[in-house]
Amino acid sequence: MNGVAILGSTGSIGRSTLDVIARHPGRFRVVALAARTRHELLLEQCRTFRPALAVLGDAADADLLAAALRAEGLATEVAVGERGLIAAATAPGVEVVMAAIVGAAGLGSTLAAARAGRRVLLANKEALVMSGRLLLEAVAAGGGQLLPIDSEHNAIFQCLPPGPPGVRAPGVRRVWLTASGGPFLRVPLASLGAVTPDEACAHPRWRMGRKISVDSATLMNKGLELIEAQLLFGLPPGAVEVVVHPESIVHSLVEYVDGSTLAQLGHPDMRTPIAHALAWPDRIESGVQSLDMLRLGSLGFEAPDRRQFPCLGLAEAAARSGGTAPAALNAANEVAVAAFLEGRLNFTAIAEVIERVLECQPAKPVGALEDVLAADADARRAAAGCIEAGGGWRA
Ligand SMILES: NC(=O)c1ccc[n+]([C@@H]2O[C@H](COP(=O)([O-])OP(=O)(O)OC[C@H]3O[C@@H](n4cnc5c(N)ncnc54)[C@H](OP(=O)(O)O)[C@@H]3O)[C@@H](O)[C@H]2O)c1
Repeated sequence: MNGVAILGSTGSIGRSTLDVIARHPGRFRVVALAARTRHELLLEQCRTFRPALAVLGDAADADLLAAALRAEGLATEVAVGERGLIAAATAPGVEVVMAAIVGAAGLGSTLAAARAGRRVLLANKEALVMSGRLLLEAVAAGGGQLLPIDSEHNAIFQCLPPGPPGVRAPGVRRVWLTASGGPFLRVPLASLGAVTPDEACAHPRWRMGRKISVDSATLMNKGLELIEAQLLFGLPPGAVEVVVHPESIVHSLVEYVDGSTLAQLGHPDMRTPIAHALAWPDRIESGVQSLDMLRLGSLGFEAPDRRQFPCLGLAEAAARSGGTAPAALNAANEVAVAAFLEGRLNFTAIAEVIERVLECQPAKPVGALEDVLAADADARRAAAGCIEAGGGWRA
């Protein structure tokens, strides 16, 4: 039995992970679950999966959960905040950690899991984008593994020979990251300023949390994934190409020097990469239907429009700058997306805020985690200042 901790268990990835685990009761045991505020859903998950530890973001919610667990005679302990997340990631009996917290909030626990030598299933791409090689070094020092959950990176992983993270596989010319294009692929540029959060979150192919849904609508998600792919697969900036593929059936491709291009295909359902990484190198049922090649029809591929989606170009520039630039990009994006979701910023102003922040915060080298955290804090302050100052960006 593999002991599993799920950080972000109440989110879209967390719930899909529990769905896969529930199909294999003899193979996985849930040891720890963690969320921020949704204590009622976490209680329901504790009833079903009986973890040793449950974590919530603040003490008042944790008290409510602890009282409810006691009243039902459940033995789950309750912990709070960052210390609780780290306890969950490193708890005795945890071999696999699903890192599925959204945003920079997942960095500390993902690093802790890596240092402790766990198998880290990385959905929380922001943690890798921010910390870059520091997370890869933590995986190497801990002696564990890092398996990508993003469907694109999981697809690339499946098309590569086995090897350590961060090292370019022999014979790889480049990788092609597929992008659905999100809900605004065919929406005229002039209309984008007026789109609402609900429209931005109505993704045509994937059901996801609200932050990543907005990132998919701006294509910042693809920009973050481009940085993630360079780091995970040891590739220079020019060796990761983005291609729009609206059907989201081909999840990404690896091009080799001999002219072969390998792809991984499947329905757009995160349970496939989750099941792959949970069981790797075995294969297990995920609950996802097989593709019917006879009904698939034609698949389309096109170049991304960087005028329509300036966030992609901003991420490419941050990838080229390196150092603290990806952390600053990520932090400015998190602040701008939160403001958009709260109705304080126009959709098109997300990219403008990020651009301003990157202009006023030149990249510095990263020697230690403190450099990353400082760049993150500076960029958050700068982005909040830009949004506060307004400049016609208000929704
Ligand atoms: N959804 C997808 O299909 C998908 C695909 C590829 C990659 N990813 C990546 O996976 C990550 C999660 O995405 P998602 O769509 O699952 O997001 P989501 O639905 O918004 O879920 C986020 C989860 O993180 C928890 N959380 C947030 N802040 C926290 C904190 N400070 N402490 C503890 N828990 C915290 C939330 O708890 P509450 O519910 O209590 O707020 C929730 O369980 C993101 O990095 C995303 O980019 C997602």
